[in-house]
Amino acid sequence: MDKRVLKKGLLKKIKGLEAVLCVLGLGHVGLPIAAVFSDRGFKVIGADINESLINRVSMGEIHVEEPGLKDRILKSIGEGRITFTTDTVQAAQRADVIIVCVPTLVDSDKKPDLNPLNRSIESVADIHLKGKLLIISSTVPPRTIKGVVARKIEDLTGLKCGLDYWLAYCPERVTPGKALREFIWNPRVIGGCTQVCSEIAKELYSQVVKGKIFITNCLTAEIVKLLENTYRDVNIALANEFALICRGLNINIFEAINLANTHPRVNIHIPGPGTGGPCIPKDPYFLLSAVEKTEPKLIPFSRQINEHMPIYVFNRLKETLEEDGMKIGGSKVLILGVAYKGDVEDTRNSPAETLIRKLLSYRAEALVYDPFTPTTFGAKRVRNLYLGIKESDCMVIMTDHSLFREIDLEEIRKLKDKYIIFDTRGIINHQKATSKGIKYVGLTFTP
Ligand SMILES: NC(=O)c1ccc[n+]([C@@H]2O[C@H](COP(=O)([O-])OP(=O)(O)OC[C@H]3O[C@@H](n4cnc5c(N)ncnc54)[C@H](O)[C@@H]3O)[C@@H](O)[C@H]2O)c1
Repeated sequence: MDKRVLKKGLLKKIKGLEAVLCVLGLGHVGLPIAAVFSDRGFKVIGADINESLINRVSMGEIHVEEPGLKDRILKSIGEGRITFTTDTVQAAQRADVIIVCVPTLVDSDKKPDLNPLNRSIESVADIHLKGKLLIISSTVPPRTIKGVVARKIEDLTGLKCGLDYWLAYCPERVTPGKALREFIWNPRVIGGCTQVCSEIAKELYSQVVKGKIFITNCLTAEIVKLLENTYRDVNIALANEFALICRGLNINIFEAINLANTHPRVNIHIPGPGTGGPCIPKDPYFLLSAVEKTEPKLIPFSRQINEHMPIYVFNRLKETLEEDGMKIGGSKVLILGVAYKGDVEDTRNSPAETLIRKLLSYRAEALVYDPFTPTTFGAKRVRNLYLGIKESDCMVIMTDHSLFREIDLEEIRKLKDKYIIFDTRGIINHQKATSKGIKYVGLTFTP
C-alpha cells in the first residue's frame, strides 16, 4: 500500500481514538503512559516480560506509587479499555502504535547497556510492522534511534522507517510521584526519524498532552533529553562541591545557599548525600558515550563528586562517632529513608544503599526506617520510628520525606540520654535539637 494511504489511515485512527496502543514495559514510565492513553479512550494493551507484575496489575494491584494511577487503571480495566499480557509479540502485533518504555541502563564500566531495548525491538521486528508507529520512550544514548533501532528493524525485516513504518523518539520528563500530572502538562520534545514520523507522533501525543509539543529530528531529541539530566547532575555536583568546601569552614551549606540564591541571577541546586533514581546517575554516561575520547572533563568529574557523597557521609559519621568515644563497628545506626528522594518509594541507585553497604562492611548494625518502601539493602527494617531511635546510637537522615521534618525531638530526649542526629538534608532545626541535649551534625557543620 502507498505510504500516503498508510499515513492517512493511521492519522484517522489516532484522531478518532480508534488506534490500538501497545505499551511495552509497565514500570514507572510505562504504566502511567498506559493509564493516560486508556483514560483518554484509546484501547491499550500493556505488555511486560515480568509475569508476576502482569498477574498483579491485571487484578488491579498497582506496583507503581503514583497519585491517581490506581483509580485510572481500575476504571480502564472495568470499562474494557486496557488489558495486560506477557506476550509482547502478540501485543505489538495487535496494535497500531507501539510505545517502548523498557529500562536502559549502564553496565559496571558505566557503558550503555541496551539489552532490554534490543530485546523489545526483536519482539517488534517479529510482527508485521508495516503502517505502524513505533515510539521509543526509554532514555537512549545519542544515535540509538537511527543507528540501533531503525537499523536492527531493517536488518531483521527489510522495512525502512519513514517509508514502511514510522519511528519517533519521545523521551519522558516525568518525576516519580508526579508522573501522571507531568505526563499531561510538561512541555515535550519529539524527534522523528523523518518529518512525517514527528508529525504522526505529535498527533498521537496531542490527544493527551496539554503542554507544548516541540518537534525536531531524533538525534537532537536524544541529545536534548541527556542535556537536561546532565545539567542537573553537574549543578548538583557544584552544590556538593560547595558543601565540601563549607565543611572545611564549618559553615551550614543550606543556609549559605539560601542566602546566595537571593541574588536575582543565582540559582544554586540543593546539595545532599548523593544522587539517585533511574535517570541522573545514568544519563550523563549516555551523553559521554557519544564521544570517542573523553574530551569532556566537567561531566565525569561531576559524576565522581556525586558518587562520592555517600562515602563522605559515611566518613563523617565515623569521625563523629569516634569524637564521642564510639567506634563505627558495633555501633547501631538508624537510617531514615532509603528512597532516593522525598515522598516516593523509588530506591533505584539510592545513595542510602552505598551508605548501608559501607556500614555493614564495617560491622555496624544498620537499621532502616522508611514507611514508603520495604527495601532495606540488607539492613534491619524498623516499623516504628521511636522504637528504632530507642534501639540505636544515632540516626542518619538520608531522604527528605516530609514526615521526617516532624520528628518529635522532645520524645527523643525522653528516650535517650545521648543521641546523635546526622541530618544530611538540612531538615531538622539544629537549635531545637541542641536545646534538647541531642548532638546535631549537619551535612557540613556541627553547631
Ligand atoms: N522513572 C522515571 O522517572 C523516568 C523518567 C524519565 C525517563 N525514564 C526512562 O524510562 C525508561 C523506563 O524507566 P522506568 O523507570 O519505567 O523503568 P522500570 O524498571 O520501572 O520499568 C521497566 C519495565 O520494563 C519491563 N521490561 C524489561 N524488558 C522488557 C521487554 N523486553 N519487553 C517488555 N517489557 C520489558 C520490566 O519488567 C519493567 O517492568 C528508562 O529508559 C528510564 O531511563 C524514567
